Amino acid sequence: MALAHLLYRSSGRLDRFGSDCAAILQTARRRNGSLGLTGFLHAEDGIFVQWLEGPEESVEEVSQSILADKRHRDIAVFSRGPIDARQFPDWTMGYSDGDQALLFDFLAERGTNSHDLRGYADCLHQFLLLRAA
Ligand SMILES: Cc1cc2nc3c(=O)[nH]c(=O)nc-3n(C[C@H](O)[C@H](O)[C@H](O)COP(=O)(O)O)c2cc1C
Repeated sequence: MALAHLLYRSSGRLDRFGSDCAAILQTARRRNGSLGLTGFLHAEDGIFVQWLEGPEESVEEVSQSILADKRHRDIAVFSRGPIDARQFPDWTMGYSDGDQALLFDFLAERGTNSHDLRGYADCLHQFLLLRAA
């Protein structure tokens, strides 16, 4: 079965970020579980970064829901498409949040900026893997 992924960053609704995160996670874990999807969501300072992976058709179906979801905007897709192996096999949707601007520090330490799409995507991917470890 062909595996695919989606990696993006978006901006959530600041006034209800906490309650949105809780509701999103609940739905995500239920639906991902039934579709065989796995991945990781990091939420920090109103920003979401998410990696979603699994069977190509299911990733496509859920990606369409996510990209149309009104609970976030300014969605920047950094990579999507086929992958050889799952990166987060143990998580129907892992989750972390960063009260201490962890993501921003991580990106700044590596001098990464979003003009270098490939480098930025690699950095977000590495960050999520570290959060999941
Ligand atoms: C940042 C963010 C991440 C989300 N992640 C997932 C996810 O991993 N899996 C999922 O099923 N829904 C996820 N959702 C929720 C979907 O957008 C959607 O509300 C849900 O899948 C129900 O789909 P439906 O409204 O088309 O039935 C996410 C939403 C947001 C805003």
